[in-house]
Amino acid sequence: MRKRLIIPSIVFLLASVHVAAQDARPEIEIANPNAMFLQQQRALPPAEVIERGETLYQVNCRLCHGPDLRGGDQGGSNLLRSDVVLVDIAGESIGQVITEGQGSMPTFNQFSSDDIAAIAGYIHSIKFDSEGQGSTPPVDFDLDILVGNADAGERFFNQECASCHSVTGDLSGIATRIPDDYIMQNTWVAGGRRQAGRGGAQSTVTVSTAAGETISGRLLRYDDFFVSLRTEEGAYRSFTRRGDSPAVELDDPLYRHRELWSELSDSTIHDVTAYLETIK
Ligand code: HEC
Ligand code: HEC
Repeated sequence: MRKRLIIPSIVFLLASVHVAAQDARPEIEIANPNAMFLQQQRALPPAEVIERGETLYQVNCRLCHGPDLRGGDQGGSNLLRSDVVLVDIAGESIGQVITEGQGSMPTFNQFSSDDIAAIAGYIHSIKFDSEGQGSTPPVDFDLDILVGNADAGERFFNQECASCHSVTGDLSGIATRIPDDYIMQNTWVAGGRRQAGRGGAQSTVTVSTAAGETISGRLLRYDDFFVSLRTEEGAYRSFTRRGDSPAVELDDPLYRHRELWSELSDSTIHDVTAYLETIK
């Protein structure tokens, strides 16, 4: 009985996905047409993409949305029941929330479009595995961050971080200041960007269009295809990039963190976190 009630909403969803596709949204790829739910019909990205999405999720989203996506300590909503997730095809809807924020959810500007597609792929893979809409995924989420090797983390730090940071200088006592492993990991990977609104480093951008308009603001997203920003007046502006047009000028103190993001492996992330946890 319950299942029957859900069918019309799926038909509606598929219909709206079809309409949306005409707005140049990505097409949804159906791999299992006989499955009950859209979330189980859809084709998933390759396993290594999902795995990368899982790491990104666990580092950036877990604290608020929980280890199993059902919502967490910091008040994030249940993503297994989210309409945004349900209508998302390849990260375009989830990505919009990530880069623009929503309610008390902060904006993230460090992700490439591949990162966002990976996070979305991970979220879809959990919904794919869950038995019904909103039920707990049958996956063991116990991510033990302190499996890292502090010595390896120290070597990596000396090579990749010491040009800008010092554990006796700006980062002295960081483990005392940030005793929680997850917050520590989030903080160093993102370069404290989460705290950006509260006096930390802030990346800004100036875009000059071919039509002669110049717009500056806080950088929300920057990759090969898009640049988006929020102006001082609070307006959201987004531009498609084609080569050098529009001209983009970045003032990005966190550029190295943004680059590191796509270079870091899971084990390196864990090693560096383990090392930083020794800096009391
Ligand atoms: C500081 C806490 C916090 C963090 C970190 C956070 N979120 Fe959120 N998120 C929220 C809150 C709170 C909402 C609900 C916002 C509202 O609508 O009021 C939300 C909403 C969402 C929604 C929309 C849900 C819906 O149906 O409206 C999505 C999708 C989402 N978050 C994904 C993510 C992803 C992916 C990440 C990691 C990249 C992330 N969030 C990180 C707090 C957070
Ligand atoms: C090219 C310079 C540069 C490199 C290299 C770099 N960072 Fe950063 N990092 C920054 C800047 C800029 C900030 C923002 C500082 C601020 O908010 O005042 C920052 C912020 C941080 C923060 C937050 C500091 C705080 O007090 O909350 C941590 C932790 C951090 N970085 C760790 C690392 C680690 C670990 C590495 C190496 C894997 C690294 N950084 C590499 C420039 C760099």
